[in-house]
Amino acid sequence: MNWRVLGVGTAVLWIITAGVVAALFVQGHTRPATDGRTEILLAPAERDLVLAEMRDLLKAVHGVVTVLGSPSPNLKEAEGAARGAGMAMAADVNPAIMLKLPLAFKQLGMSIHKDMDHLADGIAKGETSQQILNRLSSMTARCTTCHDMYRFGTTK
Ligand code: HEC
Repeated sequence: MNWRVLGVGTAVLWIITAGVVAALFVQGHTRPATDGRTEILLAPAERDLVLAEMRDLLKAVHGVVTVLGSPSPNLKEAEGAARGAGMAMAADVNPAIMLKLPLAFKQLGMSIHKDMDHLADGIAKGETSQQILNRLSSMTARCTTCHDMYRFGTTK
C-alpha cells in the first residue's frame, strides 16, 4: 500500500466532492423551462412545501395592505403579519431543498424574509403608510422578478 498515493487520492476525491457540492449550491437543480424561465426541479413534497411558503408570503402582504387601508388600522396586526413571514419562517427550510435552489433564488428569497422583519420593525416604530407601502413595493418588485425568472418542476 502506497500511503502517499492513497493520501493524494483521498484529497482529490475530497476536492471533487466539495466542488460538486459547491456547484450544486450555486446552480441548484435546474433546466431550461418551455416558457423561457429556469425550471427548478424538486421532489413533489418539496415543491408543495415551497409553494405553501409562497402562499404564506402573499397572505403576509395581504395582511399588511388590508390594515393600511382600514379606517382604524390595527398596527399590531400588521406587524404580526409581516413578522410571521420574516427570518423565523426561513429558519426551518430543509438542507436538501437548499441544495436544489440556485444561489440567486436563495439570495432573493432570504432578502424577502429579512425585509419582512424590517417591515415589522418599521410598523412597530410608527412609520407612515407611505413608508410602509414603499417597503412593500420594494419587496413585491422582488416577488415579480423571481416569478419571471423561475418556475418549479418535479422529479420523482
Ligand atoms: C426567490 C424567488 C421567489 C420570490 C422572492 C418569491 N417567489 Fe413566489 N414563487 C416562486 C416560484 C418559482 C413559484 C412557482 C412558479 C411556477 O412554478 O410557475 C412561486 C409561486 C408563488 C405563488 C403560487 C403558490 C401556489 O400554490 O401555486 C404565490 C402565491 C407566490 N409565489 C407569492 C409570492 C409573494 C407574495 C412573494 C413576495 C412577497 C413571492 N412569491 C416571492 C419564486 C419566488
